Formats: sequence, structure tokens, C-alpha cells
Amino acid sequence: MKIEEYLTTLPESILSGEDVQLPKEAFKEIFKLANLNKNDVFYHLGCGDGLGLLIAKEEFNAEKIIGIDISKEKTDAASKLLKEKNYSDVKIINEDIINSHFDDADVILFWFVDYNVLEKMMPKFSKLKQGTRIVTIWGPLPGCLPERVEFPYIMNKVPFSKAKDLKEQLLAIFDVKCIDFVTSWEFAERYTKAIGRDNPENDRFLTIIQSLVIWINAKNLGVSCEDEIPEPIKNYISILKKFFNIEIEHLLK
Ligand SMILES: C[S@@+](CC[C@H](N)C(=O)[O-])C[C@H]1O[C@@H](n2cnc3c(N)ncnc32)[C@H](O)[C@@H]1O
Repeated sequence: MKIEEYLTTLPESILSGEDVQLPKEAFKEIFKLANLNKNDVFYHLGCGDGLGLLIAKEEFNAEKIIGIDISKEKTDAASKLLKEKNYSDVKIINEDIINSHFDDADVILFWFVDYNVLEKMMPKFSKLKQGTRIVTIWGPLPGCLPERVEFPYIMNKVPFSKAKDLKEQLLAIFDVKCIDFVTSWEFAERYTKAIGRDNPENDRFLTIIQSLVIWINAKNLGVSCEDEIPEPIKNYISILKKFFNIEIEHLLK
């Protein structure tokens, strides 16, 4: 079956990423990348169960902390967590981020890949004060060149520098002149480790799929180092086909 068909067989919550909760280490790395500090107003858009808010408070001592989530269940859990720790000054709001106001933000954590959300948020982000840092995960904000990258964490800064094209954006994220198999694998592995799930036995499978996607996209954009398909890519393509019945070769243009 083609990979697109395989993806439709996965549970909706996995595809939408709604239930993905970042681990503690990931938040620490994100806040270090953004240099979150005691002078900052921090917003976590899509704050989930509030772990990121807790770390921003306890370990980075941000001046003002606000978490926003559309799910009542999630904001209730976040409120409970912060209340237990007596951090009543951390504000938690139950609303759609599309309707949120965050003009006073210095640092924003925003992990959304849904294009409908990105499209509505970009005009809001563009109007934020100069120097506002927006951390995204896996990809930068659409059309923008990142300010700093600690893959898969990407810091975007207002005013945004526009990328000429996808090629320029991709090479800026990976900080290389071209993308070979080793780079694809390394970055896929960093992503797999960063998002840390409950079932690490699937890590290798996820890394294989991610690295193939990175290399194939690079090849299609003309920024892969190799003209020919490298042996490991060929091998992983046939492993997926033979053992998992997942066909990925058609993505190559
Ligand atoms: C960290 S985000 C990541 C998932 C996101 N769907 C993505 O593709 O990257 C997940 C959290 O965002 C929340 N969320 C999803 N859509 C939202 C929205 N429009 N406004 C506020 N929170 C939202 C979910 O309830 C969940 O706690």
C-alpha cells in the first residue's frame, strides 16, 4: 500500500498530533534555545497538560507565563498541575489560539503543522513587537528563514526574514550545502528522540520513515548531495515494502 494509504490507517489522534506531550528535556532545550529568562512574557500556544508552563516557571523563572489550549480537559489538567505547585500567577486560558491576544509576548512556543492554523496565525505573528522569539518544532514558520536552529527546535524572530524558496529554507534548517543520507538519518533521529513517546520500540521505524521523507524531499527540491539513490535509501525503501507493505518510491519525482 502507498504511504498515503498507510497513514489513513493510523488513529486520528496520532495524525493530528493532538495528544503528543513533549517530555521535560524537550522543554528545557526549547527554552534554552529561546534564551527564556526572568524578563520574558512567555506564551505556550497549545499548552496541553501544562508541563511546559511548569518548567518555564520553575527552571527559567519567566516574568509572566500564559498557557492557551482549546481543550477544556487539557486546560483543567494544566490548572490542576500549576495549582498543586502553588503557582497561581501562571495564567491558563481555554480558547482557540486563532482568537487569542498575545501582543505582549517575548517568547512563544507554537507547535502546529496544520496549515489552516498556520495561515491564520502568520498575520498575527508578523505584527508582534520586534525581537519576539517564536519557537516551532520540525519546520520554521511558513516562508521564513530561522534565526537559530537546534533541530528539531527552530527559533523564528520578528521581523521575519523571508526565504527565497523552499530550497533555501531547507538548507538553512539543516545548515548544510546539500542533504545526504547521513544528514537525513541524523535529523530524523533527533526528531524521534525529541518528541519521545510511550512506545520507544517504534523509534527505529519512525526514524526510517522520517529519514526517507527528508532525503526524498531534498532530492525532489534538487538539494540532495547524491544524484543516484544512495544504497541505504534503496535498502530502507525495500524493507518498508517487503516487511511492512508500505510503498514510498512513488514520492520520488
Ligand atoms: C502541541 S499542539 C501540537 C499538535 C498540533 N495539531 C500540530 O499539528 O502540531 C497540541 C495541543 O494543541 C491544542 N490545540 C489544538 N488546536 C488548538 C487551537 N486551535 N487552539 C488552541 N489549542 C489547540 C491541543 O488541544 C493540544 O493540547
